[in-house]
Amino acid sequence: MSTIAKRAFVTGITGQDGSYLAELLLGKGYEVHGLIRRASSPNTARIDHLQSDPHDARSRLFLHYGDLTDGSGLAKLIQAIQPSEVYNLAAQSHVKVSFDQPIYTSDITGLGTARMLQAVRETQEHSGQPIRFYQASSSEMFGKVVESPQTESTPFYPRSPYAVAKVYAHCITVNYRESYNLHASCGILFNHESPRRGDTFVTRKISRAVGRIKVGLQDKLYLGNLDSKRDWGFAGDYVEAMWLMLQQERPDDYVVATGVTHSVREFCERCFSRVNLDYRDFVEIDPRYLRPASVDYLLGDASKVRTTLGWKPRVSFEGLADMMVDSDLELAQQEKSARDAGHEYVGHY
Ligand code: NAP
Ligand code: GDD
Repeated sequence: MSTIAKRAFVTGITGQDGSYLAELLLGKGYEVHGLIRRASSPNTARIDHLQSDPHDARSRLFLHYGDLTDGSGLAKLIQAIQPSEVYNLAAQSHVKVSFDQPIYTSDITGLGTARMLQAVRETQEHSGQPIRFYQASSSEMFGKVVESPQTESTPFYPRSPYAVAKVYAHCITVNYRESYNLHASCGILFNHESPRRGDTFVTRKISRAVGRIKVGLQDKLYLGNLDSKRDWGFAGDYVEAMWLMLQQERPDDYVVATGVTHSVREFCERCFSRVNLDYRDFVEIDPRYLRPASVDYLLGDASKVRTTLGWKPRVSFEGLADMMVDSDLELAQQEKSARDAGHEYVGHY
C-alpha cells in the first residue's frame, strides 16, 4: 500500500472513543483502519453502523485482527497499512479492574503503548514517510491531586495500577518524541461519557439503572463512593480534540476537560430527576464498589487546548446526563417490550 494523505490507524476502535473517532475521521474523508481483538461473539456493536458492504468499493473502514500484547503483529500491520496518523486508544481502561488485574493492565495499558511506538518508529524509519501518533493519556495520572485545577504541568500521583500504567505510557510517548523526532502527542483527557459508555463505568451504570427502574425492570442501584468528584464531558466532543492535536505542526501534550466538577451523587440526582424519581429511594451503597486507593477529586484546566487548538466542549454536565438517560430509557423500554413479548432481548450495548 502506498501512503495517502489521510489514512488513520486506530487501536481501541470497538470502544467508546474509538467509535466516535472513527465516525469523525470517516466524516473528514479519511481511510480508517481499526485494530480489533478476536472474540467468540461479535464485539463490534459500536461501529457496526459504520461498516458498509465489504464488497462496496466506497467503504473506507477496514478492520484488522491484532492485540496490544503482540508487538511483531502490530509492526507488520502498521508497515502494511502505512498510516499517516495513528491513534492509540486501546487499553484495559477500568480503574477498579486494574486492582484485580495489575499485571495484565500494565502489559496492555503500559507496555502496549511502547509496542505501538516502536512499531510506528520502525515503520517511519523504513518508509521515510512521517507518521503522527496520538496517545490516550488520562486525568487518572493526577490521582491524589497535588494542585487544583490540574494542568499540563501538574505533577502525577497515580493511585491505581491503571494510572501507573498510563503514567508509563505517557512518559514513554514523550521519550519517543524527544529521542526519535516522532510527532507524538498525548491528550490528558478527563472523564468523558456518552450513551456508548461501557456499562460498568459509573455514569452509564447510573443511566442504565434509571431507565430500567423507571420501566420496572430493576429495583435498586448499588454504588460505591458517592462523594467522589469528576470533571465529566461528552466523548463526541473529546475525540475532536484528539484529531486537532495531530493537525498541529508541532507535537505536544494537552489537558482536555470541561473545567467543571461534580460528584457521583450529583450525577445520580440529575439522572433520576430526569424521569421524576428521587435517587435516595433507589441508591444503596455496596462496599464492593469501593477501591483500595481512591481518586476523590478531579478538575481540569483546559486553557491550553482552548487557546492553542480552539477546542471547547459543547455538551454540559446536565446535557450529558439527560442525553444518557434519554437513550437508556429507550433501551429499557425495548428490553421491557421484548420481555413482555417473551423474546430474549438482544441489546446493542
Ligand atoms: P473503552 O471503551 O474501554 O475501550 C477500550 C478499547 O481497547 C476497546 O476497543 C478494547 O477492545 C480495546 N482493547 C482492550 N484491550 C486490548 C488489547 N489487549 N489489544 C487491543 N485492543 C484492546 O475505553 P474508552 O473509554 O473508549 O477510552 C479510550 C482510551 O482513552 C483508553 O485508553 C482509556 O484508558 C483512555 N481514557 C479514557 C477516558 C474516558 O473517560 N473514557 C479518559 C481518559 C483516558 P474490546 O472491545 O475488544 O474490549
Ligand atoms: N465504576 C464505578 N462503579 N464507579 C463508582 C461506583 C460504581 O459502582 N460507585 C462510585 N463510583 C465512583 C468511583 O469510585 C470513581 O470515583 C467515580 O465513580 C468514577 O468511576 P468510573 O466511572 O469507573 O471512572 P474512573 O474515573 O475511575 O475512570 C474513568 O476515567 C478515567 C479518566 O479520569 C475511566 O474511563 C478511565 O479509563 C479514565 O482514564
